[in-house]
Amino acid sequence: MAGQSVSSKIAKAGSPSRRDVIKLAGAGALLPATAASAQTADVPAVSASRSFPPGFLWGAATASYQIEGAWQEDGRGESIWDRFAHAPGKIRNGDTGDVADDHYHRYREDVQLMKALGARTYRFSTAWPRVFPQGTGNPNPKGLDFYNRLVDELLANGIEPFATLYHWDLPQALQDSVGGWESRDTAKAFADYAGYVAEKLSDRVRKFFTTNELSAFVELGHRDGIFAPFLSSAGAGVPKFTDEDLRAIASPLDFVGINVYTPVYVRAIGAPSGYEVVPPAKSHPRMASSWQLFGPEALYWAPRHLQKIWNVKEIYISENGCGAADEPAADGIVYDTDRIMFLRSYLASLQRATAEGVPVRGYFLWSLLDNFEWADGYGTRFGLVHVDYASQKRTPKLSAAYYSEVIRRNALP
Ligand code: NOJ
Repeated sequence: MAGQSVSSKIAKAGSPSRRDVIKLAGAGALLPATAASAQTADVPAVSASRSFPPGFLWGAATASYQIEGAWQEDGRGESIWDRFAHAPGKIRNGDTGDVADDHYHRYREDVQLMKALGARTYRFSTAWPRVFPQGTGNPNPKGLDFYNRLVDELLANGIEPFATLYHWDLPQALQDSVGGWESRDTAKAFADYAGYVAEKLSDRVRKFFTTNELSAFVELGHRDGIFAPFLSSAGAGVPKFTDEDLRAIASPLDFVGINVYTPVYVRAIGAPSGYEVVPPAKSHPRMASSWQLFGPEALYWAPRHLQKIWNVKEIYISENGCGAADEPAADGIVYDTDRIMFLRSYLASLQRATAEGVPVRGYFLWSLLDNFEWADGYGTRFGLVHVDYASQKRTPKLSAAYYSEVIRRNALP
């Protein structure tokens, strides 16, 4: 099935068990409505008005370049993000994805982290330059093998894989030879790559997203010049859509994924656009990334509009989360109270949508792990699990305990 977004071993010594994650939930009175307080007389255990539909798929999301590292291993080709990150001055602190979370080598440990959370699903992306180092031509079997191992490990642990085929790591060879996404040849190469991955993985992966946040890599990468491939005046020679393209684009989708982070407030006007953006107040609360206004109602309105306007029958929240300045406290715990506030509020909006019948079938929290936040480097942390980049030690944050409790109850605590 395709949509748009837009083996079996060991918990390594030191991986947290589900019990450890839950224990953390009881670590303080910081979670006013979690396991401990829900048992007090005046708080109902689970109010029906707080629950999600049966079978709701709770999970977490990541993307290849942001977590894998191993940038030159097993025949992987260069991507536009490697090229961009290795150029001086492009990324905060000169950070690169060369090592990132070293997930390429630590994926088993990371699957155990998901299991400890109680996650039922996981959204990852396949790195095109691992599978086709030159973008087209001969596939690299070792590149695909990594995703075979990952998928097998997920399934052996009862976690349903969702794969994204393009999360921004275009093979540099395609940028150099044909001009990347400004050329029709890249779309054709993408179709061949997508077909190849689907052929190899679809015996075990039932759900594929095609591209992640089209507008981000088009606008930030080709207009604003702040993302790879760092172009600011592209577009002049871009081929026009043909009728045939539009027919292909209009093919029905099995489902739609949307990444929901922040609201944009608008009002109706009598101009052709029909609306204009209302500037937010200077004092409007924000999360740690400057672009992220706090606006939990977005997680109600976005899926609701998708249903009403496009009549979508199966919706996934393919990403939602927030950055924070997480640091372990003296007792070793990461008290990310801001993320818990964020999740509690946003998930209440999502619960309202599902209770009103909006067909949201699953939710992928961004992100499982702290990771390479593109031009912001490693300074902004989005993970449920803290990563100490020097040692690669993983530590579930307080929000992991909160989220685990949401999953366990299939309801808001
Ligand atoms: C959306 C992107 O898909 C993801 O890669 C990024 O890290 C998050 N937004 C947070 O900015």
